[in-house]
Amino acid sequence: VYQQIRDRLQHLITSGALVPGDRLPSIRSLAQSLQVNKLTVMEAYDLLTAAGLVTARQGSGYFVDLLSPTPASLTSRFSPTQDVVLWETQGSPFFRYYSQYVQAQYQAGFIDLSCAYPQQLPDNLSRITRRVAGLNESLHHYDLAQGLPRLRQQIASFLVQIGLEVSPEHLMVTTGSMQGLSLVLRYFLQPGDWVVVESPTFSGMLAILEQLQVRIIGIPMDANGMNLELLAQYLHSHRPKLIYTISTLHNPTGITTSLSHRQALIQLAQHYKCPILEDNVYEGLHADPAPPPLKSLDANVFYVGSFSKTLQPGLRVGYIAVPSQHFPALLEQKLLQDLHSPTLPQAIVGEYLATGHYRRHLQRLRTMLKCHRNAMLQALSTYFPADARWTMPAGGMFLWVQLPNRFAGVLAAVHQQAVDAKILYTEGSLCFPARQGYPAIRLSFGNESPDLMEKGVAGLGEILARLAPPSTNAAD
Ligand SMILES: Cc1ncc(COP(=O)(O)O)c(C=O)c1O
Repeated sequence: VYQQIRDRLQHLITSGALVPGDRLPSIRSLAQSLQVNKLTVMEAYDLLTAAGLVTARQGSGYFVDLLSPTPASLTSRFSPTQDVVLWETQGSPFFRYYSQYVQAQYQAGFIDLSCAYPQQLPDNLSRITRRVAGLNESLHHYDLAQGLPRLRQQIASFLVQIGLEVSPEHLMVTTGSMQGLSLVLRYFLQPGDWVVVESPTFSGMLAILEQLQVRIIGIPMDANGMNLELLAQYLHSHRPKLIYTISTLHNPTGITTSLSHRQALIQLAQHYKCPILEDNVYEGLHADPAPPPLKSLDANVFYVGSFSKTLQPGLRVGYIAVPSQHFPALLEQKLLQDLHSPTLPQAIVGEYLATGHYRRHLQRLRTMLKCHRNAMLQALSTYFPADARWTMPAGGMFLWVQLPNRFAGVLAAVHQQAVDAKILYTEGSLCFPARQGYPAIRLSFGNESPDLMEKGVAGLGEILARLAPPSTNAAD
């Protein structure tokens, strides 16, 4: 019943019947008119609050959140056209980008719209860190290569909640998900092999693939995910050794694929006997439940996760759910790399999960991110060129802006002027294999307050308008 009430009110808000600032009926009056218990209405209001649609004001009741998106800004007009990219070159810009980004963090005064993790400090994490560090002598020893049993147990319980059943025996804790990705790639790939990635994709992945001297097939992303018709063609013609995909809250586009897209992708991979590496480090930040991961549809998928995006990247705690037949060989590789990931961060995360803090923290984080996303959407529709298009992610912390073609020649100047104006964002070209793609930028709403975000988006909008004003020429 409470879900029905939530759905009804949600519909009223998203259809525009209730607008930001409108007051909702009091709990007592709604309970009376619907002939339900007050607790039922409270439960529905709690869900709406957690979804960022409603705010409670002490003593005055519940109101439609001021940052709830208007129906118009909820529609994504993202629809790029792009060719498949085949890449055999070398020289990744990832290292330069990463170093610049970390250095910028140490400088004050920047509006950071490039940050890839939320800046919200998890409640109680410091307390738990002190407790775990003080008490646990066993953490000072060498430990299991696959990671602490308690943490793996907790990760397994978390994964069940998102529809993925994995035994703790088949989970391997890694030093950030970056190590997990690297281990799986090194396990499958030899120089010269073909690998499928989405185009655009995570720039760190492109850097590892570069280092391995493999050849990349960049399959274009449209609003639904990787173009599966093109994928089928290239699976047939190039026989790649691996498909790398981010199915939930894709970096950089923020897109989450549907269940039917996932099923079709699995079918193709099975048909061509091509393993899948699924990288869902943003999974916990999906606002409503996302479709279950690809791995839940096929146990042969390698699934990579992380606590960098939901707790703290400095902990460097990630994990892989490994298909059972590959576990021993991959564990040996992990052992030879670093024996095991540091035990103290593993114990901290394990304790944080076990005490229920993580679940509550995720709820708060998702609500905060949703408000921030809505604020960014509003700012984009106010300050960005009318012919720019952007994605509408169902959570996470990025959105992807596709700029009109007239920006193709001025992207470096846009970036330089933004840095001069102390605004950071991620250059879209970093995310395209061979840097071949349409003009685009990735904007993060995970870091700054809505006010600063608006200031940053307004500043960028000004730079864009200055460097490539809309032409009157219809060919643009
Ligand atoms: C898609 C994706 N995978 C993996 C990583 C690496 O994260 P970490 O090694 O901190 O877990 C990132 C970081 O930005 C990412 O965006």
